[in-house]
Amino acid sequence: MRLPGRYDGVARPIVTYGGDPVLHRPCAPVTEFDGALRRLVLDMFASMTAADGVGLAANQIGVDARIFVIDCPDATGQDVVGYVVNPTLTPLDPVEDEPVEEVTEEGCLSVPGPYAELPRAFRARVDGVDVAGKPVSIEATGMAARCLQHEVDHLDGVVYVDRLPEDLRERLLAEAAGPNGDLPA
Ligand code: NI
Repeated sequence: MRLPGRYDGVARPIVTYGGDPVLHRPCAPVTEFDGALRRLVLDMFASMTAADGVGLAANQIGVDARIFVIDCPDATGQDVVGYVVNPTLTPLDPVEDEPVEEVTEEGCLSVPGPYAELPRAFRARVDGVDVAGKPVSIEATGMAARCLQHEVDHLDGVVYVDRLPEDLRERLLAEAAGPNGDLPA
Protein backbone atom coordinates (compact mmCIF):
# COMPACT_ATOMS: atom_id res chain seq x y z
CA MET A 1 0.00 0.00 0.00
CA ARG A 2 1.31 3.44 -0.91
CA LEU A 3 0.27 6.23 1.41
CA PRO A 4 -0.91 9.44 -0.30
CA GLY A 5 1.88 11.96 -0.48
CA ARG A 6 4.63 9.48 0.25
CA TYR A 7 6.22 10.09 -3.14
CA ASP A 8 5.86 13.90 -3.13
CA GLY A 9 9.58 14.43 -2.61
CA VAL A 10 12.25 15.52 -5.06
CA ALA A 11 14.55 12.91 -6.58
CA ARG A 12 18.24 13.51 -5.91
CA PRO A 13 21.26 12.06 -7.75
CA ILE A 14 22.47 8.64 -6.60
CA VAL A 15 26.03 8.40 -5.24
CA THR A 16 27.96 5.63 -7.00
CA TYR A 17 30.69 3.40 -5.52
CA GLY A 18 33.86 5.40 -4.86
CA GLY A 19 32.12 8.65 -5.75
CA ASP A 20 31.67 10.08 -2.25
CA PRO A 21 33.23 8.98 1.10
CA VAL A 22 29.78 9.21 2.76
CA LEU A 23 28.88 5.92 1.01
CA HIS A 24 31.83 4.11 2.61
CA ARG A 25 31.63 5.03 6.29
CA PRO A 26 29.01 4.51 9.02
CA CYS A 27 26.23 7.12 8.99
CA ALA A 28 25.38 9.33 11.96
CA PRO A 29 22.25 8.59 14.03
CA VAL A 30 19.37 11.02 13.47
CA THR A 31 18.85 13.33 16.46
CA GLU A 32 16.57 16.08 15.04
CA PHE A 33 12.99 15.00 14.31
CA ASP A 34 11.89 18.05 12.34
CA GLY A 35 10.47 19.11 8.98
CA ALA A 36 13.85 18.66 7.32
CA LEU A 37 13.84 14.97 8.30
CA ARG A 38 10.34 14.55 6.88
CA ARG A 39 11.41 16.19 3.57
CA LEU A 40 14.52 14.01 3.44
CA VAL A 41 12.44 10.83 3.77
CA LEU A 42 10.10 12.04 0.99
CA ASP A 43 13.12 12.84 -1.20
CA MET A 44 14.49 9.36 -0.51
CA PHE A 45 11.24 7.73 -1.68
CA ALA A 46 11.29 9.95 -4.78
CA SER A 47 14.95 9.13 -5.46
CA MET A 48 14.36 5.38 -5.08
CA THR A 49 11.36 5.52 -7.40
CA ALA A 50 13.09 7.67 -10.03
CA ALA A 51 16.06 5.27 -10.05
CA ASP A 52 13.72 2.24 -10.25
CA GLY A 53 15.15 0.81 -7.03
CA VAL A 54 13.56 -1.36 -4.32
CA GLY A 55 15.42 0.29 -1.45
CA LEU A 56 17.61 3.29 -0.73
CA ALA A 57 19.84 4.43 2.13
CA ALA A 58 20.35 8.14 2.92
CA ASN A 59 24.07 8.03 2.15
CA GLN A 60 23.20 6.89 -1.38
CA ILE A 61 21.96 10.43 -1.97
CA GLY A 62 24.94 11.89 -0.12
CA VAL A 63 23.26 12.40 3.27
CA ASP A 64 25.05 11.25 6.43
CA ALA A 65 22.02 9.97 8.37
CA ARG A 66 20.82 6.53 9.49
CA ILE A 67 17.63 6.28 7.40
CA PHE A 68 16.49 3.88 4.70
CA VAL A 69 13.38 3.45 2.55
CA ILE A 70 12.06 0.22 1.05
CA ASP A 71 9.47 -0.75 -1.59
CA CYS A 72 10.22 -4.38 -2.32
CA PRO A 73 8.25 -7.65 -2.65
CA ASP A 74 8.63 -10.29 0.08
CA ALA A 75 8.79 -14.06 -0.42
CA THR A 76 5.02 -14.19 -1.08
CA GLY A 77 5.07 -11.32 -3.60
CA GLN A 78 3.55 -8.84 -1.13
CA ASP A 79 5.15 -5.38 -1.39
CA VAL A 80 6.92 -4.20 1.75
CA VAL A 81 6.79 -0.39 1.70
CA GLY A 82 8.16 1.82 4.45
CA TYR A 83 11.11 3.58 5.99
CA VAL A 84 13.03 3.37 9.25
CA VAL A 85 15.09 6.01 11.03
CA ASN A 86 18.00 4.78 13.19
CA PRO A 87 17.43 1.11 12.26
CA THR A 88 18.94 -1.90 13.98
CA LEU A 89 18.86 -5.22 12.13
CA THR A 90 18.01 -8.63 13.62
CA PRO A 91 18.26 -11.73 11.40
CA LEU A 92 15.41 -14.02 12.51
CA ASP A 93 15.05 -17.77 12.90
CA PRO A 94 13.12 -19.45 10.07
CA VAL A 95 9.39 -20.07 10.54
CA GLU A 96 8.19 -23.62 9.72
CA ASP A 97 9.98 -24.85 6.59
CA GLU A 98 11.66 -21.58 5.65
CA PRO A 99 15.39 -21.73 4.95
CA VAL A 100 17.76 -19.98 7.37
CA GLU A 101 19.55 -18.33 4.45
CA GLU A 102 18.86 -17.72 0.80
CA VAL A 103 21.44 -17.25 -1.95
CA THR A 104 20.09 -15.12 -4.78
CA GLU A 105 21.20 -12.27 -6.98
CA GLU A 106 21.60 -8.85 -5.46
CA GLY A 107 22.29 -5.50 -7.07
CA CYS A 108 22.65 -1.87 -5.97
CA LEU A 109 21.82 1.55 -7.41
CA SER A 110 25.32 2.62 -6.37
CA VAL A 111 26.86 -0.14 -8.52
CA PRO A 112 24.55 0.25 -11.52
CA GLY A 113 24.30 -2.66 -13.92
CA PRO A 114 25.68 -5.90 -12.50
CA TYR A 115 24.20 -8.37 -10.02
CA ALA A 116 25.91 -11.04 -7.94
CA GLU A 117 24.78 -13.93 -5.75
CA LEU A 118 25.08 -13.36 -2.03
CA PRO A 119 23.79 -15.31 0.99
CA ARG A 120 21.41 -13.40 3.27
CA ALA A 121 19.08 -14.36 6.12
CA PHE A 122 15.70 -15.40 4.66
CA ARG A 123 13.76 -13.61 7.43
CA ALA A 124 14.85 -10.42 9.16
CA ARG A 125 13.50 -7.58 11.25
CA VAL A 126 14.52 -3.96 11.55
CA ASP A 127 13.63 -1.85 14.59
CA GLY A 128 13.92 1.91 14.73
CA VAL A 129 11.75 5.02 14.80
CA ASP A 130 9.60 7.09 12.43
CA VAL A 131 9.95 10.80 11.56
CA ALA A 132 8.25 11.67 14.87
CA GLY A 133 10.65 9.51 16.87
CA LYS A 134 7.98 6.83 17.55
CA PRO A 135 9.15 3.17 17.54
CA VAL A 136 8.54 1.23 14.31
CA SER A 137 9.53 -2.22 13.06
CA ILE A 138 9.56 -3.92 9.68
CA GLU A 139 9.75 -7.73 9.49
CA ALA A 140 10.14 -9.32 6.09
CA THR A 141 11.09 -12.46 4.15
CA GLY A 142 12.82 -13.21 0.87
CA MET A 143 13.82 -10.29 -1.32
CA ALA A 144 12.42 -7.72 1.12
CA ALA A 145 14.44 -9.26 3.98
CA ARG A 146 17.49 -9.13 1.70
CA CYS A 147 16.73 -5.46 1.07
CA LEU A 148 16.54 -4.71 4.82
CA GLN A 149 19.97 -6.30 5.30
CA HIS A 150 21.39 -4.52 2.23
CA GLU A 151 20.15 -1.08 3.36
CA VAL A 152 21.37 -1.42 6.96
CA ASP A 153 24.72 -2.49 5.49
CA HIS A 154 24.74 0.80 3.53
CA LEU A 155 24.18 2.76 6.74
CA ASP A 156 27.21 0.96 8.22
CA GLY A 157 29.25 2.04 5.19
CA VAL A 158 29.13 -1.40 3.54
CA VAL A 159 28.11 -1.81 -0.11
CA TYR A 160 27.07 -5.38 -1.05
CA VAL A 161 30.10 -5.83 -3.33
CA ASP A 162 32.30 -5.26 -0.24
CA ARG A 163 31.00 -8.65 0.99
CA LEU A 164 32.26 -10.43 -2.16
CA PRO A 165 35.76 -11.77 -2.93
CA GLU A 166 38.08 -9.02 -4.15
CA ASP A 167 38.46 -10.33 -7.72
CA LEU A 168 34.68 -10.56 -8.17
CA ARG A 169 34.20 -7.13 -6.61
CA GLU A 170 36.70 -5.57 -9.00
CA ARG A 171 35.04 -7.26 -11.96
CA LEU A 172 31.59 -5.98 -10.94
CA LEU A 173 32.89 -2.44 -10.35
CA ALA A 174 34.61 -2.49 -13.74
CA GLU A 175 31.37 -3.70 -15.31
CA ALA A 176 29.46 -0.89 -13.57
CA ALA A 177 32.05 1.62 -14.70
CA GLY A 178 31.59 0.70 -18.34
CA PRO A 179 34.10 0.77 -21.20
CA ASN A 180 35.28 4.32 -20.45
CA GLY A 181 36.01 3.59 -16.81
CA ASP A 182 33.56 6.22 -15.61
CA LEU A 183 30.65 5.32 -13.37
CA PRO A 184 27.42 6.77 -14.70
CA ALA A 185 26.30 9.89 -12.84
NI1 NI B 1 22.41 -0.55 -2.49
